[in-house]
Amino acid sequence: MKRVYSGIRATGRLHLGNYFGAVKGMLALQDSYDCVFSVVDLHTITIPYDPKTLKQSVREIIIDYLTAGLDPKKCHLEIQSTVLQHVELAYLLSTIYQVSRLEDLPTYKEKKIQYPKYVNMGLLYYPVLMAADILLYKAELVPVGIDQEPHIEVAREIARKFNSMFGQTFPQPQRFKTEGDYVPSLVGAGKMSKSISGSFINLTDDLETIRKRLAGAPTDSGVIGGELPKTGGTANLFALLRLFKLDKECIKFEQDYKAKKIRYSELKEALAKTIFKELQPFQAKRKEFENNPTLVDSIIEEGQIKCSRMAEETMKEVRLKMGLV
Ligand code: TYM
Repeated sequence: MKRVYSGIRATGRLHLGNYFGAVKGMLALQDSYDCVFSVVDLHTITIPYDPKTLKQSVREIIIDYLTAGLDPKKCHLEIQSTVLQHVELAYLLSTIYQVSRLEDLPTYKEKKIQYPKYVNMGLLYYPVLMAADILLYKAELVPVGIDQEPHIEVAREIARKFNSMFGQTFPQPQRFKTEGDYVPSLVGAGKMSKSISGSFINLTDDLETIRKRLAGAPTDSGVIGGELPKTGGTANLFALLRLFKLDKECIKFEQDYKAKKIRYSELKEALAKTIFKELQPFQAKRKEFENNPTLVDSIIEEGQIKCSRMAEETMKEVRLKMGLV
């Protein structure tokens, strides 16, 4: 059976971008593939973080996974740092990959600007560790948002290089695309992101919070008319209407826009109600897992045991091929 791997950092609660770009893809694949879904805590610590709350944040993502419908009977749930082979493989792969290519990656450049006082080796190394995550399980499909495409390309390059130096070992992973692989931000530009305040809606937000967050989303004056803009706050709100399948509303508000009589408060209210409706069952179900810590512990432990076993199989082969044993 083909393998699938994906991971999410424990930088806060899951937002709509994580849900549409990654989790929906995971849900679509868990029935027909051998899947490992991870909380990538070692990637989490490449930007400033609080060691006192990290472990709890990791657990919250596991609970979010379970609540969203990832089923430990169908897939393996992993906490990255508990499977030590990730780091071992990352180091070995780093010895065959050039530094200059890593320095050129857009995410590294962005993070350097975002955290000028926190430009660490781990940040540069991020895509190598991510390649190791995927290749450790010989995964062929990776459900992630479009922003991760450059990293998947690095994983493919590393797989090709390894295969050509040491013999055929790794498949070349492909991104599994979901319909919402680019969820726009609520601040008018860029993608929804945990690190940009005001840009996101969390899966745990109640209706009032969703309303407040949408109220802050920029729009134009509403009396411009003509064709809908392709970028900016208004375009992003329409993209969200489409993502939530509010097709009728989309047509109505587009007509209103053209006629210079669009009321953004109405549009935002329709959107808020629909988003909350989609999130409500998730929020109710989450409590079941929050109230059952023993179950969550046992799922985490089982994931570690099974994933370590799978990881060790690959590592035995890699150590041998690289001449280390
Ligand atoms: P992270 O935590 O930044 O993002 C987790 C997932 O959410 C997706 N995502 C989005 N998708 C659509 N629209 C958005 N606005 C949006 N924002 C976030 C991301 O594409 C991602 O799928 N580097 C990875 C973590 C990772 C990983 C891996 C993933 C580490 N090792 C191995 C796959 C395989 C990341 O972006 O995390």
